[in-house]
Amino acid sequence: MKRQMHLIPVMQTGPLVGSWRHPEAEISFLDGGWWGSIARTLEAAKFDAIFFADALTFYNDEMTRKGGDIYLLDPVPLAASVAQATTRLGIGITISSSFLEPYGVARALGTLDVLSKGRMAWNVVTSVSDQEAQRFGKPKLLPKDERYDRADEMVESCMQLWDSFAADAYLADRKRGEFIDPDKLKHIEYIGKYFKTQGPLTVPPSAQGRPMIMQAGSSERGRQFAARWAEILFTYQRTEASMKAFRADMDQRMAHLGRAPEDCAILPSIQVIIGETERIAEEKRQYLYSLVDDDVALARTSMATGVDLTKVSPHQKLTDLDVGTGSTGALDVMVNAMAGDNLTVVEAARRYSVNALCPELIGRPEQVADQMQQMFEQWGADGFILSPHVMPSSIEEFARAVVPLLQERGIFREDYEGTTLRDHLKQGSR
Ligand SMILES: Cc1cc2nc3c(=O)[nH]c(=O)nc-3n(C[C@H](O)[C@H](O)[C@H](O)COP(=O)(O)O)c2cc1C
Repeated sequence: MKRQMHLIPVMQTGPLVGSWRHPEAEISFLDGGWWGSIARTLEAAKFDAIFFADALTFYNDEMTRKGGDIYLLDPVPLAASVAQATTRLGIGITISSSFLEPYGVARALGTLDVLSKGRMAWNVVTSVSDQEAQRFGKPKLLPKDERYDRADEMVESCMQLWDSFAADAYLADRKRGEFIDPDKLKHIEYIGKYFKTQGPLTVPPSAQGRPMIMQAGSSERGRQFAARWAEILFTYQRTEASMKAFRADMDQRMAHLGRAPEDCAILPSIQVIIGETERIAEEKRQYLYSLVDDDVALARTSMATGVDLTKVSPHQKLTDLDVGTGSTGALDVMVNAMAGDNLTVVEAARRYSVNALCPELIGRPEQVADQMQQMFEQWGADGFILSPHVMPSSIEEFARAVVPLLQERGIFREDYEGTTLRDHLKQGSR
């Protein structure tokens, strides 16, 4: 069998910049049945998983009013509802390591993993705003490196808790009157700098043992964290050279920790816009961008880059931007990435806020499949994180028009071989 790609779309439980105002968009973020039907579409197309990104607060009034970048629902109960609507599709949810206690996180995720019969993944994020910290009674976030130290302890202690309940400890033997064999439970004591907890956990292991770990570290410390724990790794890479460099760096970091490259699938983000012709697809793209509010785009991009772009002339060329000492790595990335496109500040901000500058694959379904195949075979990607735009039609279109082409080419599964998310990630891997 040929090597197979993995496909996971990233969802959010609310609008992302302008696409929710598209006439085709459904605005049903609060409807569990709607999420169930999207999940079933993905399952019918044999996607590896659905993935819910998350942030714990709104950004500001302007973004809230205009539907800039909104997360309405808590992913934990949402995952339970999606699990109920599906039988094979993996379910990735985001939980920050910066605010909760490990015992609660391990118990909630362990329960979801049991109820979904081994289909859960945990996207471990360390959070980015002090406002999120304040909701949990803390004045501000820890510095970034310390947030990752805390995340290390969070995942380490959750692993020990998940490990503390042996699969054969659960007996439920009516005749002998024995329910659990306590000798097979591990009494653990975790004492770290940030957390103290004890096991055993009350939740038995799932069909895949424990939830998988997903992560998207890109800083030095973030990559180190990912190398230690991630089994599914997301990344933004715009070129073959940068993807190869990222892959080589991660493979090396993992090797130092005794992990093999195939222990972690590396999935770059892409945005796909399909049309009957290339021209129609390009027009759809232009239309989508026309829906993005300039103030939202500038605010969203300012937050991501740490430079206040609302203070500069939005129509000046990006390359003429002089941000002086305020410049950050993220802004340099944006300026460099878009230098060749001759964009104004606001045009660049629109792109950044729609898809964080991930590669845009635009054209007929065959053209999109060609580009995906090339990135999969030559860039060293193990598959893709798809950023949908109009919901749910962009997902449905992709499932109908592109997935069959990838299947014909033998680079995407025609059916699931196993039942758990871990099974799906192993299928046809490197
Ligand atoms: C596809 C993708 C999805 C992400 N989802 C979230 C998310 O839901 N919530 C969040 O706080 N951060 C999210 N992030 C940001 C990462 O967790 C991480 O902070 C970012 O990639 C920067 O890496 P660093 O923390 O090492 O600097 C996501 C990143 C990517 C590439």
